[in-house]
Amino acid sequence: MIVILLGPPGAGKGTQARVMAEKYGFKHLSTGDALREECSNNTTVGRKAREYMDEGLLVPDDIIFEIIRKNISQHRDILLDGFPRNISQAVRLDSILKDISRKISYVFYLETDDKILIKRLTSRRVCPVCGKIYNIITLPSSRGSYCDIDGAELSQRDDDKTGVVKKRLAVYKTETHPLVEFYSEKELLYTIDGEKDIEALLMDISAIIDKGGSNGH
Ligand code: AP5
Repeated sequence: MIVILLGPPGAGKGTQARVMAEKYGFKHLSTGDALREECSNNTTVGRKAREYMDEGLLVPDDIIFEIIRKNISQHRDILLDGFPRNISQAVRLDSILKDISRKISYVFYLETDDKILIKRLTSRRVCPVCGKIYNIITLPSSRGSYCDIDGAELSQRDDDKTGVVKKRLAVYKTETHPLVEFYSEKELLYTIDGEKDIEALLMDISAIIDKGGSNGH
């Protein structure tokens, strides 16, 4: 099964992806996480990607497909988080999937208001070791500014500073939001209320997946 989580920055894609991967055994594939790993390893790809990420812009498609190609044929149940990010990536994904006789099962669009997104992003903290996502207001670590799993000091993403957040939201609207219509026309889109709490969101998504039907291939 191939599932896409679509939505603006801060809609909760990474958070839901982690709980869904745990519940259903999906391979969680986040292009954002993969790019951040390239950045922290200071690879050629990472250095190039950072120029765009620090400005809140999309990284060029060719870099993204280097990451995607490696993974997409290796796993049966895949959860795509933060990809595709524009129409050209979506069209290219369709063509790759056609070549390997696979199809997208569900696209879950986490609809969330801008004011909530800005608040969530500027108060997000992440563990640099295990990637666990926290929020100093709604989901703090039980160990203060240290990860409650591995004790590493939590950090704020460079692109979660207010100026960059506003740019990312603007880029989302022009580049990524058109995918809502793209997947709606293909009858793959399910709109989920991204303002509900994490558990309620998981229940809404699970109700659709568990119902299965013709999409659940
Ligand atoms: P990426 O890492 O994909 O960032 P994003 O899409 O902007 O999304 P975020 O990770 O910021 O938010 P999220 O929706 O995952 O929310 P989260 O669960 O963390 O991309 C970063 C950059 O990489 C891009 O700007 C671009 O440069 C590049 N890039 C990545 N993919 C690319 C691609 N395909 N093409 C080109 N460039 C690409 O939650 C946020 C906060 O809210 C957390 O604190 C969390 O605890 C809290 N929260 C989550 N859910 C809830 C809830 N239901 N209720 C209350 N709080 C919640």
